[in-house]
Amino acid sequence: MSAARVESIRFADDRLDLLDQRRLPAEERWLPIESAADATAAIRDLVVRGAPAIGITAAYACVLAARHRGDDRAAWDADLDALVAARPTAVNLRWAVERMRRAVEGSPGAALEALRAEARRLHREDRSANEAMAQHGAGRIEAGSTVLTHCNTGSLATGGTGTALGVIVRAWREQRLKRVLACETRPWLQGLRLTAWELAREGVPAEVLVEGAAAGLMQRERVDWVITGADRITANGDVANKVGTLMLAVLARRFGARMMVVAPLSTLDPQTPDGAGIEIEQREASEIWRAAGVEAPPPGVDAWNPVFDVTPAELIDCIVTEKGVIEPPFDGRIRGLFDGA
Ligand code: MRU
Repeated sequence: MSAARVESIRFADDRLDLLDQRRLPAEERWLPIESAADATAAIRDLVVRGAPAIGITAAYACVLAARHRGDDRAAWDADLDALVAARPTAVNLRWAVERMRRAVEGSPGAALEALRAEARRLHREDRSANEAMAQHGAGRIEAGSTVLTHCNTGSLATGGTGTALGVIVRAWREQRLKRVLACETRPWLQGLRLTAWELAREGVPAEVLVEGAAAGLMQRERVDWVITGADRITANGDVANKVGTLMLAVLARRFGARMMVVAPLSTLDPQTPDGAGIEIEQREASEIWRAAGVEAPPPGVDAWNPVFDVTPAELIDCIVTEKGVIEPPFDGRIRGLFDGA
């Protein structure tokens, strides 16, 4: 029996609260978000993270900004620009804010009710996209499979059951899985701290490993599927996701595992032709040192800390969205998902 579903974003009576993911799993502390500036800081500082979850947070932040700015459209627009700039790689953030912008014609203060409704709709849609993806993705997994995932793609990262993790939990319930493995995900340890916690709450037995062990694992034992989420998928099917995903995709090809990417349409960026057009977020060196408890790095030693990488479409076996599963060639098929939208 699993515990109540984890949620990380609450919005009621124009009050936004976020479960502070920096403190998990040690402590479940909710942080009140009073303004768009608070939300921008929370997204930047990883209080909330995961592509869909930051989009949903930003949508609610647009409501807070409208309350604060009233008729001052220029100030409201500036708040929204700051939200979009908080993290550059996950396209859901820009997508959500642009959707909120379209809900206002003149004064944001006068459009409060429309903004509230749009933010709630966006949140609801993500939840139902999660359900659909879980069903489509789990349906592809043969009974007795071993799966390996990366980062955190569950309820903490989305508005519902998750992307890749939603597929894994459902596949487990459908008794399709022999073994579930999750990479610790350096340097912020989303896998070790968040995915392990979520899987335990869902009652799914799992093992964690350092991502450096993934090659040896795949060499020695059969891994059927590497299953990840995405932060942005371009028109040709290139996938930006948590740093380390490319390594796992290369290993999967080398050792005969298949690569499944699970992402809602809000993560697709059909306007960008390929992965070369994706800005990869670089975060502070301190994030790497702190993972080892080092506050002051040795003099003269810097760090390179890109937190995403781009997996070329040719290494991906299928992309699961709420509309179903697509297989290569992705070019054209990704744009096709928006036909009639
Ligand atoms: O830096 P993060 O923790 O926001 O990165 C999150 C990921 O890379 C996830 O894999 C991605 O957002 C898909 S989650 C639904």
